Amino acid sequence: MWTIASDIDGTLTGDRESLDQLTRRIHQLRSTGQAYLIFSTGRRLDQVLAGVAKEGLPEPDAVLCQVGTEVYLPPLTEHSKPLEAWRSHLLQTYSREEAESFLSGIDGLEMQPDEFNTELKTSCYLDRCPDPDSAALEVRRRVELHADRYQVIWSSGRDLDILPAAAGKGKAIRFLVRLMNLDAQRVVVAGDTGNDATMFEEFRCGVVVANARSELVELARSLGEDGVYLAQRPHAGGVEEGLKHLGVFDGDVT
Ligand code: GLC
Repeated sequence: MWTIASDIDGTLTGDRESLDQLTRRIHQLRSTGQAYLIFSTGRRLDQVLAGVAKEGLPEPDAVLCQVGTEVYLPPLTEHSKPLEAWRSHLLQTYSREEAESFLSGIDGLEMQPDEFNTELKTSCYLDRCPDPDSAALEVRRRVELHADRYQVIWSSGRDLDILPAAAGKGKAIRFLVRLMNLDAQRVVVAGDTGNDATMFEEFRCGVVVANARSELVELARSLGEDGVYLAQRPHAGGVEEGLKHLGVFDGDVT
């Protein structure tokens, strides 16, 4: 059985026709016990469920929300609570107050809306800073001294998250793989921006879609692994192309 761990926005979404085809193929594999599907996303759980109902996303087996700081297992409803074991593990080392202190005095920084600022994730926008990349570097420099407890995720030239060092998409998938007894050698990931990087670093097997941001493409190239596939097609079409290349799907991509 394969574990497919995919980001949602920009990776699966963006081309509805290709997504419908990918969804059919994933459902086929899931219904015969050949795939376990994890969404690994910055969305909240209710936004993921709305995506399954309205955007054509396949039904997942597990969902990692808020950039790998929340883990959800079935039954998945809008009232589901994140898994307490993961939450309490992360809370041991994370102080929101301290995380916020790393952002103080950065010119042009704006906090993200409350819904994306949680007890385990401190998120802001840097796109209004005079130089967003240097602002991100400055935050990284401050956090570096506390790298045993915090990490910085910089994505899309806009979003900066301060997460527990023990969290992030890659580590959250690893946690699920252990918890659910999945085969760690058969995990494929898919993504398009910087917040997907930890998935590739952790598993070194996956698909970077053609519309990916350069930050992820550069990382994929630097990993130089046979298992990291740069798709020619964007969005869900690229995910399908990559899953075929990596041997998850048989037959031709149509
Ligand atoms: C998603 C989240 C946002 C985060 C971004 C990058 O868009 O909603 O909070 O900053 O991903 O990780």
